[in-house]
Amino acid sequence: MSGDEINRLREIYTEALRDRRWDVDNPGRQQMAKERSKAIETLLGARLARPLHECRVLDVGCGYGNQLGWFNERGVQPENLFGVDLLAAHIESARKRYPTFNFMQSNAEQLNFPSDSFDIIVAFTIFSSLIDSRMAENVAAEMLRVLKKSGAILWYDLRYPNPRNSSVRAMTRRRINCLFPGMAIQLKSISLLPQLADGLGATAATTYPLLAGIPLLRPHYIGLLSATPSAPGS
Ligand SMILES: C[S@@+](CC[C@H](N)C(=O)[O-])C[C@H]1O[C@@H](n2cnc3c(N)ncnc32)[C@H](O)[C@@H]1O
Repeated sequence: MSGDEINRLREIYTEALRDRRWDVDNPGRQQMAKERSKAIETLLGARLARPLHECRVLDVGCGYGNQLGWFNERGVQPENLFGVDLLAAHIESARKRYPTFNFMQSNAEQLNFPSDSFDIIVAFTIFSSLIDSRMAENVAAEMLRVLKKSGAILWYDLRYPNPRNSSVRAMTRRRINCLFPGMAIQLKSISLLPQLADGLGATAATTYPLLAGIPLLRPHYIGLLSATPSAPGS
């Protein structure tokens, strides 16, 4: 395990928690969340052979557990919802918000689950946080171990470097390919630059789609990584 990297991540995310950088009440952020939610529905809807509510879902680097809440709203039962995060404060908040889900504070370099356990594994902005390549490789390998052969990784992460934040790295197609060799990778760019979205205010419902229509202004990839062309859960 990479002790220095663990300490660096703890410092960054403790700071982020204090800053409340991700403000859910901002109209631009609400549009961003709506756009992402629709994109996930389309991605999973097009691929699921097994009904979503029967899937077992693991969120790696789950933060406050919000994405697991999204799956629960769409019928996935709490006993099938699992979240792992390095930071105790994040897990504590997640447990308060979703007391019936299964949260574990742990380094995802070692996931405490049997192999072939999950239909869907969520990886939202975790790999861009992992500057240490060895840690990123270990986390990816563990995700592949616990993912069912018929399962899929639901991906959302930065595709550009962020000049205002040196604590993150871009997750380009090439990097994703290197971490998940042999997987079928389906990605599209999404999410208006947060610094633009944050300033849209009351006009967000109309201005967000216009600005987000410009590819250069979309710094994230969303997509599915799957071992086989068949659907997760089949
Ligand atoms: C940018 S946040 C994203 C949180 C959440 N996925 C979301 O999209 O809101 C990245 C999260 O990954 C967690 N994380 C970073 N490295 C980790 C590791 N090695 N094992 C488990 N969690 C880790 C951090 O503590 C943080 O909560």
